Amino acid sequence: MNAEITNEATKFRKYARTASPDLDLLLRGYLEVNVPDQYETFFTVLDGELHRRTFAEPLAPIYSNRDLINKALSVERPMTADIMSSAGLVRYAIIPVRSDTQQGALVIAVFYDNMKEEVVDAVRALSVTALVALFLAGLAGWLVAGQVLAPIRLVRQAAEHISDSSDLTRRLNVPGNDDVAALARTFNHMLDRLERAFATQRDFVNDAGHELRTPLTVVRGHLELMGDDPVDRAETIALVTDELGRMNRIVDDLLTLAKAEQPGFLTIDDVELADLTVSVLAKVRTLGDRTWRVDDVADSRVWADRQRLTQALMQLVANAVRHTGPGDLIAVGSAVRADTAGRRVIALWVRDSGPGVRLEDRERIFGRFVRGASRKHEGAGLGLAIVRSIAEAHGGSVRVTDNVGGGALFTITMPLREVIVADADLVVPFADDDAPLPETAFPAMKRDNDAQEVM
Ligand SMILES: Nc1ncnc2c1ncn2[C@@H]1O[C@H](COP(=O)(O)OP(=O)(O)O)[C@@H](O)[C@H]1O
Ligand SMILES: [Mg+2]
Repeated sequence: MNAEITNEATKFRKYARTASPDLDLLLRGYLEVNVPDQYETFFTVLDGELHRRTFAEPLAPIYSNRDLINKALSVERPMTADIMSSAGLVRYAIIPVRSDTQQGALVIAVFYDNMKEEVVDAVRALSVTALVALFLAGLAGWLVAGQVLAPIRLVRQAAEHISDSSDLTRRLNVPGNDDVAALARTFNHMLDRLERAFATQRDFVNDAGHELRTPLTVVRGHLELMGDDPVDRAETIALVTDELGRMNRIVDDLLTLAKAEQPGFLTIDDVELADLTVSVLAKVRTLGDRTWRVDDVADSRVWADRQRLTQALMQLVANAVRHTGPGDLIAVGSAVRADTAGRRVIALWVRDSGPGVRLEDRERIFGRFVRGASRKHEGAGLGLAIVRSIAEAHGGSVRVTDNVGGGALFTITMPLREVIVADADLVVPFADDDAPLPETAFPAMKRDNDAQEVM
């Protein structure tokens, strides 16, 4: 309101500077060119009387207030003050003008109460509008969020249903290409894997049950039929002990396979491949009268589980012994090679001059409880499954191919994780910066590329 008054006063001053020096003309002219706002009114006084007022009738006839007119006629300097009127509080300003012969003034009045009422009304209207808008926006947000989250609710319900009913065959159907559809797809993939894992698990338990039942039946049958004859008894005890030993081996193998699926299966350590290869051969030589041979030894130190790798190689050698006869060749070897993608890998192999593995069996025989065509040396069919678990635990794989000259060649391939020996461990007498470093950072292994006859 004060700004309004100040503004009018400034305008009047500017106008007075350019207008005629005749006060009647000046005041009349100003009222003609200036229209007051809704809550304003202007009037002028001249020569002791009310002179002119704006055309529109003001909210209260303050122009007829004699006290105000007298005051307007008498003030020397511009001033503002408040008075009461029939339309409430009024703030006014008096701007006196004087010429040589005349004395007059412009009075600007603003109806304070009415103006305030309008502002209050406006604020109230705005508040109501804002509240309604807020409510509508909230409602819209809630509806939209519900729509967006509906597919997620579907995912949640399906997940609940599956966990309640253990029904792993159920899948989610969320069409589209958005994040929720991607979530549903991921969820379905997970269910695929779970379903497969459970099926494998179920088959495995079934097979294990069958496999263990056979020796149990045999043992029970023999014990039931056992007579009093000491020779008969000794025979039965030997047979039963044999069967129990077989069961024991199966249980051990099953435990190994179960462990292979848990973290901590491997105890990773610094392994010298050459030493590993040679020591496996030293252990297996007593298994039978065979021509034992070391094909090659890798001259590397790697991070691996020495015991598990030894176990895998021993399994392969035990199989080779079973499938060969006296004097036949069994060879083991290790090497660092480049795979098809050019990465450096470790290869560990066992080959024999036996009958080999039929093409159609080459994948199958690595499965659990899977035995090949030759039924004469019957194990439980877990050996190669263990070999595969060990290879996979090392990030590698195992496969069987034809041995050159007949027989089977089993090769374990796994990524090379070489042990880097810090330079500080190197003792290079009188080392010269430009001199090439020795090829290996640890005591050099004698590398013998020619096949080395051990027996
Ligand atoms: N060196 C080999 N030569 C030929 N066949 C083999 C050889 N090693 C394994 N096999 C075949 O693979 C099958 C699975 O082997 P494995 O998992 O060790 O079970 P198991 O020795 O108990 O039969 C064997 O039954 C055999 O038919
Ligand atoms: Mg075996």
